[in-house]
Amino acid sequence: MDRIQTVRNARIRGANVPVDLILSPDGRIERVEPASGRATGPAEIDAGGMLVMPSFIDSHLHLDLAYSLDLVPPNESGTLAEAIRHWERVKRELTPDNVCQRAIRAIREEVSFGTGFIRTHVDVGTSAGLRLCEGVLAAREQTRDLVDIQVVAFPQDGILQDPGVLDVMREALRMGCDLVGGIAHNERTDDDSRQHIDLLFDLAEEFDRDIDCHIDETDDPYSRCTEVLAARTVERGWKGRVTASHVCALAGYDNVHAAKVIRLLAAAEVNVVTNPGVNLHLQGRFDRYPKRRGLTRVRELLAAGVNVSAGQDCIRDPFYPLGTGSLLEVGHLLIHADHLSTASQIENVGDIITTNAARTLRLSEYGLEPGCWADLVVLPVNSMHEAFRTRPAPPAVLKRGVRVSR
Ligand code: FE2
Repeated sequence: MDRIQTVRNARIRGANVPVDLILSPDGRIERVEPASGRATGPAEIDAGGMLVMPSFIDSHLHLDLAYSLDLVPPNESGTLAEAIRHWERVKRELTPDNVCQRAIRAIREEVSFGTGFIRTHVDVGTSAGLRLCEGVLAAREQTRDLVDIQVVAFPQDGILQDPGVLDVMREALRMGCDLVGGIAHNERTDDDSRQHIDLLFDLAEEFDRDIDCHIDETDDPYSRCTEVLAARTVERGWKGRVTASHVCALAGYDNVHAAKVIRLLAAAEVNVVTNPGVNLHLQGRFDRYPKRRGLTRVRELLAAGVNVSAGQDCIRDPFYPLGTGSLLEVGHLLIHADHLSTASQIENVGDIITTNAARTLRLSEYGLEPGCWADLVVLPVNSMHEAFRTRPAPPAVLKRGVRVSR
């Protein structure tokens, strides 16, 4: 893999003229200057007026599940509940090595599409034990030169429904998981869901970690976990450290209640992650026609000042048979699913898969300013609008100044 010293003739968002990005030997952006000529030598990339972006960020993925579709029986109902049931049986037999190999395949695909950062959830519990976690942590180690990965200890089967899971989560955090995960709606009663959320904060306090919780991933308009998560975030002093993933039920609330929940999320500085492909696919399964779209209220959240990013979630697994790891594809789906149609709305989806996601992952030194890591993707287009329209393969992807994909 080649270390790059200069990216020449780059089009960057917000600049009227092409620029040269001068990189330092340790892989940071040292200077950004008006373009001064053509590239010379192997340590330079000539972007030729192509768009250069900071690496894409996949803020919600399940690496332990990736490419597991052929290991499970078909999901006949297409529902989340049936997928969890099939996965529950299969995961008891998986080895860390099997998980690691599949995860590495998914990571390499993501990198080839320009992803430089991934937040993955990994199933830990009394069925999965720590084997899936071991596999994903090994995959992270083997690909650390390609991508930065945050791992969330995710109690897929619930907490109150899976007695003993908290000790498994504690061990996962000691082994190297970064965040406390949750699945608050996957409990038997509303009281249990509220208790689930309290237990997440207890664990987050015990280990001083951020929280990323699957929450209200259902069409049920009476699934009301998100407001509890937002309220507890303020009460427990965890503002800015909590992510609510999916939040599909918000779309089903009446508008008055939705407005209240959105205000609570904004005040608590809770990040929201939507997963357009998977939400479109798994939600609305109890509808005949018309079928709802299943996504959370992205535009209303953004308008209220809530930080929203988007993720791939699943790649060819029991929950979702498609998925490539391309954040351009994720953005393309989001544009359709949430009726984002003006030029500025489409351009802003470029932020959803970059700077908004960087805020969710609490990344520092991310972007195109001097001092940031040279984590870059070159795209053969002149705008994010064209990138989403054509979804081209990137001619070059850089990680800390080193070319990791071409
Ligand atoms: Fe998920």
